[in-house]
Amino acid sequence: MSLSRQDRLQVLGLWPAWRLRTPVQVALEQEVAVQQPEHSTTAPTTAAPPPRPAPAPQPPAVLLKPELPKAVPVAPTEEMHRIGEMDWTALNAAIQACTRCDLAKSRTQAVPGIGDPHADWLFIGEAPGANEDRQGEPFVGDAGKLLDAILAAIGLARGNNVFIANVLKSRPPANRDPKPEEVAACLPYLERQIELIQPKLIVALGRFAAQSLLATDTPIGKLRGQLHRYRGVPLVVTYHPAYLLRNPLDKAKVWEDLVLARDTMQSLKT
Ligand code: URA
Repeated sequence: MSLSRQDRLQVLGLWPAWRLRTPVQVALEQEVAVQQPEHSTTAPTTAAPPPRPAPAPQPPAVLLKPELPKAVPVAPTEEMHRIGEMDWTALNAAIQACTRCDLAKSRTQAVPGIGDPHADWLFIGEAPGANEDRQGEPFVGDAGKLLDAILAAIGLARGNNVFIANVLKSRPPANRDPKPEEVAACLPYLERQIELIQPKLIVALGRFAAQSLLATDTPIGKLRGQLHRYRGVPLVVTYHPAYLLRNPLDKAKVWEDLVLARDTMQSLKT
């Protein structure tokens, strides 16, 4: 599918509201970026900020860091070894029957993922929500509709050379953040999915996917806008569609990330 630039921006909801920023707006944004705390998810601007006067001596600050969902390192168990050798049928059955964490008690069903098992494109989100828990398919709610629009913006469609999965296969109750031990318990499934799919490119949707796959606590605003690698596979980080629903102005940044992903895929194919 070939869309004009205006069509693509329309699909993302960026047209006709998208405007070139004036120099004053750019300067204001730089000032805000300079004031962002270390763990903010706002992306840093690329232009160098104006020099600032040396700060007056301060008492040592106490930094409160949010709990991070990084995988807790665990010794490879017999079970993890078995997961690493499963084919698709065994893997999906294992995910459905999984009791490796307490989320098994509250879920309606596990949500392994959906799409082309040999897709070039792999999109990875955080965890199923209420709709996904009910239907057994990832990204079927409002965030899913936006993800479909994002896919369409770069000429892709769910199931067509695209696989969609989550870090967690079971819904956290009341959509709370995943716990580190849940991420650690579930990651072997995603790792095996990636081995089976052998995607050319991974797009990590949101900070949980990005930080879990890259094993880092770097804020998403610093991870996006550059090409990473997950076990040798190029990986692009962008904002989660649910975040975009709450912060539509950041759609422009997602568009930049999509262009990076699309150009990277094109260069891999030529
Ligand atoms: N959010 C996610 O991260 N994944 C889904 O499947 C749905 C919403």
